[in-house]
Amino acid sequence: MIPPPTADFKTVLDRIPRSRLPELLRNAPKAELHIHIEGSLEPELIFALAQRNGVPLAYPSVEALRAAYAFSDLQSFLDIYYAGASVLLQEDDFHAMAMAYFARAAADHVVHAELFFDPQTHTDRGVPMAHVINGLARACADARSQHGIDASLILCFLRHLSEDAALATLQAALPYRQHFIGVGLDSSERGHPPEKFAQVFARARALGLHRVAHAGEEGPPAYIESALDVLKVERIDHGVRCVESPALVARLAASRMPLTVCPLSNVKLCVYPTMADHQLPALLDAGLCATVNSDDPAYFGGYLNDNFIATFDALPQLGPRQAWQLMHNSFEASFASAEAKAGWMTALDRAFAEAAPALP
Ligand code: ADE
Ligand code: ZN
Repeated sequence: MIPPPTADFKTVLDRIPRSRLPELLRNAPKAELHIHIEGSLEPELIFALAQRNGVPLAYPSVEALRAAYAFSDLQSFLDIYYAGASVLLQEDDFHAMAMAYFARAAADHVVHAELFFDPQTHTDRGVPMAHVINGLARACADARSQHGIDASLILCFLRHLSEDAALATLQAALPYRQHFIGVGLDSSERGHPPEKFAQVFARARALGLHRVAHAGEEGPPAYIESALDVLKVERIDHGVRCVESPALVARLAASRMPLTVCPLSNVKLCVYPTMADHQLPALLDAGLCATVNSDDPAYFGGYLNDNFIATFDALPQLGPRQAWQLMHNSFEASFASAEAKAGWMTALDRAFAEAAPALP
């Protein structure tokens, strides 16, 4: 059961022919809530920055690097992802990376984006926190002036490192507190349960920061429960393994706890064998506040609209009603103001209403 739009609007959605879907998926306004900005670094930009900064790469060409993007699980991806990020040194590098993402997002009609960034990936190599955050924050401001995109930053802790390292990272980021809206938890999930980060999330909460965490991507449903109960998160990133626990699915649905689902990522990292096996239809049917996102688009075969198109192509159960619901959920689940959400939701309804044939 998808939580129903108003009865009137439901009939509008149900009149939209399936033939209008590709155009709606591409052109309707949407929010992206799960994008690691380091995962938007395309091989061409990796090579350009490596040359500019004199950083040696393990691959001789863009083509050879791209050919290495065949992953068997999350860790096999993370190894190459951290190597790619090693070319980022100057504030302008972070700015250039984010501006390249915003150009793609604007083409996909993303009107609001909440970007994850991994400061430890950079500060552990000697890059100053100022270069990371100032470059990304300047890009967020430019996203508004150049593309009309409302963008904000979420600082993620690397869960394969210690909680002390996460606490030190939060402390080092506090001079830039005005530039990020929340904290997240990413990197290798298995063996690093959310409760390992109880103190740093409590500190973030006391500071008034939003909280999200990757859970239930490769890890078990119990990790989703401890992210909720111990870390007090407001969204679960991925969360697809919740389907293994009917009680957890019921809890997530009743609380409208958002899941930021990343379909192309899940197939590339072998969470599902094919897109046709993806559980997104079941999540929507259960009434969950699921959203579609790109995760690491440069590595997984596409940006936000590529994710929508690939998912709807492979899963015929998904139609106009589900497309509207996923985009509506993306605004509902965002950390934007109620006023901004209402404006985007109105524009979304208009885009879908215009695709419904007029009644005789
Ligand atoms: N860091 C970048 N992408 C990630 C993912 N899909 N899961 C966990 N950590 C990540
Ligand atoms: Zn992710």
